[in-house]
Amino acid sequence: MSDTERMPRVRTYLMCPPEHFTVEYAINPWMDTTVPVDAALAVKQWELLRTTLIDLGHTVHLLDPVVGLPDMVYAANGAFSVDGRVYGARFRYPQRAAEAVAHRGFYRSWQFADPEHVNEGEGDFAYLPGAHGGLILAGYGFRTEPSAHAEAQEVLGRPVVSLRLVDPAFYHLDTALAALDDHNITYYPEAFSPSARRVLAQLFPDAVIADRADAEAFGLNLVSDGRHVILNTEALAMGEKVRAAGYTPVHVELTELKRGGGSVKCAVAELRA
Ligand code: ARG
Repeated sequence: MSDTERMPRVRTYLMCPPEHFTVEYAINPWMDTTVPVDAALAVKQWELLRTTLIDLGHTVHLLDPVVGLPDMVYAANGAFSVDGRVYGARFRYPQRAAEAVAHRGFYRSWQFADPEHVNEGEGDFAYLPGAHGGLILAGYGFRTEPSAHAEAQEVLGRPVVSLRLVDPAFYHLDTALAALDDHNITYYPEAFSPSARRVLAQLFPDAVIADRADAEAFGLNLVSDGRHVILNTEALAMGEKVRAAGYTPVHVELTELKRGGGSVKCAVAELRA
């Protein structure tokens, strides 16, 4: 139990409405093209996530959804920004490739770097401004290429720690690890290689440790403002874990987005100007 009061920091986010959301291809183990998605419900649930963030005092910008890009609702994958600089995404699968172009259009007034290497934005990158003066955690193994980690470090000028993901169910870093505030994280150790686990234990001795059930409930796919931790309704046990660490869990229902293999964090990109 923590006795320090957790202070929220006002954030700016980018989201994309799931108007054209379907599961028409399967590029991760959660996607089942035989189970229909309730598109109207997806929009309703997404809208509640958006208003939850706004009600907490945050700003949410919107990206126009594009017909034929059903995964565009997972806005976290489109880029990764730190200190006003943006490292663009380059998707692993051709079905999502055009999303990078839509995101690039949004960052016109930013310092934007086109990537040479495959990387899926905030899906595989997390930033902790208060850890060692600003630390980037980066996942690889399923989507992002390790060479993109070095490229991100060159573009963003912050140290990048490479972490190997080993479980296909947790194919993006943001399905297995999340920043709770500027310096601490929560993660599911078994999603990482033994060496990556050691690195995380060394860097984050106070991390909130999640278990497989938390990860399978997409409980690590959360968005935190440093105090409020927004996570889906299935992840109740995870909510209690962050509460025990002094944070305030805020649950939102996102059953439809889970059919595409994502939840809260996948739908929200943070804009760090
Ligand atoms: N269907 C999408 C894909 O497989 C889901 C992306 C989830 N996004 C995330 N940030 N984990 O690419």
